Amino acid sequence: MRVVHNVAELRIAVKAMREEGLRIGFVPTMGFLHEGHGSLIRQCKSRCDATVVSIFLNPTQFGPNEDLSKYPQDLEADQSLCLKLGVNLLFLPTVAEMYPSAFQTFIEPGPVAEPLCGKYRPGHFRGVATVVAKLFNMVQPDLAFFGQKDLQQTVVIKRMVKDLNLPVDIAVVPTLREPDGLALSSRNVYLSPDERKRALCISLGLFAAEAAFLAGDRDIASLLTHATECLWGVDEIQYCELVDAQSLEPLVGQVDRAAAICVAAYVGSTRLIDNILLNPN
Ligand code: PAJ
Repeated sequence: MRVVHNVAELRIAVKAMREEGLRIGFVPTMGFLHEGHGSLIRQCKSRCDATVVSIFLNPTQFGPNEDLSKYPQDLEADQSLCLKLGVNLLFLPTVAEMYPSAFQTFIEPGPVAEPLCGKYRPGHFRGVATVVAKLFNMVQPDLAFFGQKDLQQTVVIKRMVKDLNLPVDIAVVPTLREPDGLALSSRNVYLSPDERKRALCISLGLFAAEAAFLAGDRDIASLLTHATECLWGVDEIQYCELVDAQSLEPLVGQVDRAAAICVAAYVGSTRLIDNILLNPN
C-alpha cells in the first residue's frame, strides 16, 4: 500500500495506475475507520482494479459548535485496516494541503441540502460537496463509494456530479450494522454503556416501521408512529421524517414511490443519524 500526503505525489501515483489501464475506485473518509468503511472498501476492491482511500478530517463541514476538535482519530489503526483490506493508495492530506491560506471557492448545493441534517447543520453540505469535489479532481476516480447511512450526503453528491458533469459514477453501499442493529459510526465511541443501550431504539424504530411497510402498511402517519414509538430512549429527536428518496421532500398520505424514513437524535451529547429505505415496487 502506497501512502501519500500531498496532491503532487497523489497525481503521480494515480497517473501510473491510469497508464496501466486500471479502473480506479475511490472511498473518501474522515478516518477512525470501522467495518462500515470496510464494507465500502471491500465493494471498491471487488468492482475496481485499484482502490484509493482518503482520510481527511474536513474542517469545512463542521459547524462552530460541533465535534471537530474532539472527533476520534487513530491513524495507526486506520492504516492497518487499509493494509489488511488491500487498499492500493492511501491519501492523507493535511488541512494546509487541502485549504491553503488563500482558499475561497466553495460548492453551494441546492434544495436537497436544506431539509433533514441541512436544517440542523447549516453549511455542512457545502463543506462536504466542496471537499468531495476537490478529492474527485485530485483522484479522478472512475467510481466512488458512499454509505447509505448518510442518505442525504449521497443525494447531495449525486446531484453535484450530475449538475457539474463530473466524470465519476457514484455507488451507494448499504448501511453496516452491529449484530443488534445499531448502525456503525465513528461517533458510537462517544457513547457510555447506558447510552449505547438507549441508542439502539433508533434502529429498532426504523425496523418496526420497515416491518409494517413490508406487511403492506403504506400509511405515512402510521409508519412514522412505528418509527417514533421506539424513540423513548433518546434524549432529543432532531427529526424523524418520511421523505421522497430522491428529492428528500417530506411525503404525506400514502407511500407511492421510493421513500426513506430518516432519523437524527441525540443520545447524551452524541448526535446519531440513521435511515431505512422503503420501496413500494
Ligand atoms: P465518514 O463519516 O468517515 O464516512 C465515510 C463513508 O463511510 C461515508 O460514505 C459514510 O456514509 C460511510 N459509512 C459510515 N458509516 C457506515 C456504515 N455503518 N455502513 C456503511 N457505510 C458507512 O462521510 C464522511 O466521512 C465525510 O462526509 C466525507 C464524505 C469523507 C467528506 O468529508
